[in-house]
Amino acid sequence: MQRRWELASVPPQHAGTSSHTSATLQRNAAGYQTLAEYDAAGNIYTTTESLTSSSSRRIPAQGNGRRMQNLRAELLTAWSAVIDEGVESGTYTLGKAVQQFERMVEEAWTTPDTDPMHAVMVNSGTTALYGALVACGIKPGDYVIVPAMTFVSTALACSWVGATPIFVDSTPGTWTLSIDAVKYLLTERADLRSQITAIIPVHLYGAVMPEMAALIDLAQAEGWKVIEDASQAHGATLTVGSERYFAGTMSDAGCFSMSGVKNAGVAEDGGCILTRSPEMAAFLRMWRDLGRKPGDRYGFHVPGVRGRMGTFAAACGTVQFQHLNKWNQQRRAIATRYTAVINEAGLSLITQVNPDESEPSYYKYVIVAGSQAEREQIEDCLAEASIETEHYYPCMLPDQPIYRSGQLPCVVAGDLAVARHLAACGTCLPIYPELNWHEQERVIEAVKQAFARHLHAGVAVAAGV
Ligand SMILES: Cc1ncc(COP(=O)(O)O)c(C=O)c1O
Repeated sequence: MQRRWELASVPPQHAGTSSHTSATLQRNAAGYQTLAEYDAAGNIYTTTESLTSSSSRRIPAQGNGRRMQNLRAELLTAWSAVIDEGVESGTYTLGKAVQQFERMVEEAWTTPDTDPMHAVMVNSGTTALYGALVACGIKPGDYVIVPAMTFVSTALACSWVGATPIFVDSTPGTWTLSIDAVKYLLTERADLRSQITAIIPVHLYGAVMPEMAALIDLAQAEGWKVIEDASQAHGATLTVGSERYFAGTMSDAGCFSMSGVKNAGVAEDGGCILTRSPEMAAFLRMWRDLGRKPGDRYGFHVPGVRGRMGTFAAACGTVQFQHLNKWNQQRRAIATRYTAVINEAGLSLITQVNPDESEPSYYKYVIVAGSQAEREQIEDCLAEASIETEHYYPCMLPDQPIYRSGQLPCVVAGDLAVARHLAACGTCLPIYPELNWHEQERVIEAVKQAFARHLHAGVAVAAGV
């Protein structure tokens, strides 16, 4: 067999241990560091050939393919139960799994000693935002404050109800919606103040906006509804005073994407609205089903949409949701490791700041380089090592053709310097529970390589981000 990697005879540099093996970094003939695994007695047990293949296996940016593979047996059982139910009842619409998924989410994310949450499952996160805006009474002519750095749906849902999104900047460090930018907007655009009716903080990359309490105070003073976009923050928490709140439970309505790429999802498209208001939940249950009252098939009581979550999707959701806490812990462990390496090596990268009171769910792990060119060099270096990165998001919303061209009206508040820098210089390292230890090591080594080849180690340079 051809030996493609030569292990150097220099003493290995210890890189970590597991219960049965230790892994060490060694330099191969080409000068790249690679991994070798040793058993408890110190004997190498990975062959050079298997080391080669594990070293070159593509590391995808997202782990949802692997997730479905791992869950295959559980999913088949759940889907088989849905088929049985439909065979018995003759319908697959709004079956038991939808209610079961709703109950699971309500129980998991209700903070003790607070009013219970009501969960309404819909067919996407975008529909969830749309429904929440309708249920909050946001109407044509209104203005809604949203961050410039978010997925298009946060703003698009405002446009769908006929409201105009006002794009504001992110806070340096935490990268979530900036309250200072909102206050500045209120003085600079006093003409709009009376027409603003809602604000949508986004818990970006899985980190709950830390200033939620201040934001809610401001919104109450102004008479605005608050809708959380928690699409990326399943199971993330924020402690306010003595209470620990889950993302999506601190406002009038919390919206989640439950799509297959999220921390726990439904394989394809799905979404969820959380509210403490039983009236809002009852409205949304009609709204998602063309306005029908449950049990009144041909009675349409509110102007609704075709927005139900499918029963097969919900069954997948119930399977995935049971793993969410464990998966989030695994994501946190990877994030901790990446951050430690970046800091220890003194790499000039900026990562998201998470205050002590917040526990993120690490939907994404974003590194921000000093410039667009540096970001591209890092991405290229990782691509050479068969590691996918995700330039996420490459374009802040006001620069998107739909808004820039004026097809949809919007207001831009300030220069959006933080959002602009994030869009130009931020990229995601792979982070998902299925990313094994060796793959994490490969990611780390590839980032270090990028710095060794092109970039300088040192103090982070991207001022203000
Ligand atoms: C912040 C944010 N909002 C809204 C959405 C829309 O969710 P969906 O794709 O399920 O419609 C997403 C999905 O990626 C998101 O990340």
